[in-house]
Amino acid sequence: MSFEEFKERLHYFPVIFITGGDGLVGSRCRQLFSQRYAEFTSTDIGDFDITNSEAVNHRLKRVRPDVLINFSAKINVLAIEKERGNYGLDAGQVNAIGAKNLAEACRENNIFLVHISTDYVFPGYPPVPLNQGPFAENSSVAHSSEGTNWYGWTKREGERFVQEAMGSEGKFAIVRIARPFRADFERTDFARNILKLYSEGKLYPMMIDMTIAPTFIDELVKALKKVIEKEDVICALPPNRRILHVVSRDQMSLLDHSRCLIKTFTGQEPKIEGIYMSDFYRKNPGMYQMPRRGLLCDRTQELLEMRFMSCQEQIEELCRQRKALGLTL
Ligand SMILES: NC(=O)c1ccc[n+]([C@@H]2O[C@H](COP(=O)([O-])OP(=O)(O)OC[C@H]3O[C@@H](n4cnc5c(N)ncnc54)[C@H](OP(=O)(O)O)[C@@H]3O)[C@@H](O)[C@H]2O)c1
Repeated sequence: MSFEEFKERLHYFPVIFITGGDGLVGSRCRQLFSQRYAEFTSTDIGDFDITNSEAVNHRLKRVRPDVLINFSAKINVLAIEKERGNYGLDAGQVNAIGAKNLAEACRENNIFLVHISTDYVFPGYPPVPLNQGPFAENSSVAHSSEGTNWYGWTKREGERFVQEAMGSEGKFAIVRIARPFRADFERTDFARNILKLYSEGKLYPMMIDMTIAPTFIDELVKALKKVIEKEDVICALPPNRRILHVVSRDQMSLLDHSRCLIKTFTGQEPKIEGIYMSDFYRKNPGMYQMPRRGLLCDRTQELLEMRFMSCQEQIEELCRQRKALGLTL
């Protein structure tokens, strides 16, 4: 094998290290990546705690991956709201400090860090004006913790720490996703939860004036493969351009999305109640803030040379995969 061929092989078969590999999103990535990448390590809290900077550095020095994808996070938004203001608790430690630890270790060991983030870094409702969003890759994130839920703020701090630790020389990309879902997993997700609640007759009113662009996890995995292949292109961009949004290419109101989901699975037009966000928050005063609009992904599609699925196509693919697994609603 010539040196050029060897380099080519290295390029296509990098050593990949995943954190949070047992979770909803990371475990699907692990499944689909293991068919492609031979040199592959998946870790989770049990064997690799990202809040322990010494252990992180030690392990990465030993494994020496080319790429690290960070799926580790604390994500229970409602529970995390009780941690508001305290960085010493779970979400602050994992989502912000953990991301910083990984970024510093990746920088030191010349590892390409792909950090997974969320649409909740953007300002939430209330109190943002109703017309804020949808949010492009270069839109401004929340400026203060008052402007979003505490989970979103700790993730926003995680993004900031990654950018600061890496500087312009470090190799990194930040990939934001929203309402990720897949055909099957031990825990429900955004789409399967709506289907489950509907089948149990417990579906609550869906928001009329909130628009969403969700992430079909299998498509995220395809996009991550592209991110890895395009490492050189991405890392040549200024740091503030290395933010990607992997979501449906269009947006739907939460109410229409739920209708479409249930109709695709049952073949029947469902009766679902709608509610305006202002009424929802009036009836649920302790509820955490949420962005009122979804993520836009035009820049990401162009950069990765991909055309993401529409909401309808994501739902049809979910339905097809569930049927193939013998699962229905
Ligand atoms: N799910 C969503 O709705 C959503 C939406 C937008 C963005 N995201 C982002 O997508 C990524 C993956 O989320 P997910 O839904 O797959 O979450 P998940 O199922 O909770 O997976 C995250 C994994 O990270 C682990 N973890 C927690 N603390 C850790 C630590 N100190 N060190 C190492 N691992 C740790 C968790 O373990 P434990 O279960 O023991 O805590 C869990 O296995 C996260 O970055 C999240 O912010 C998720």
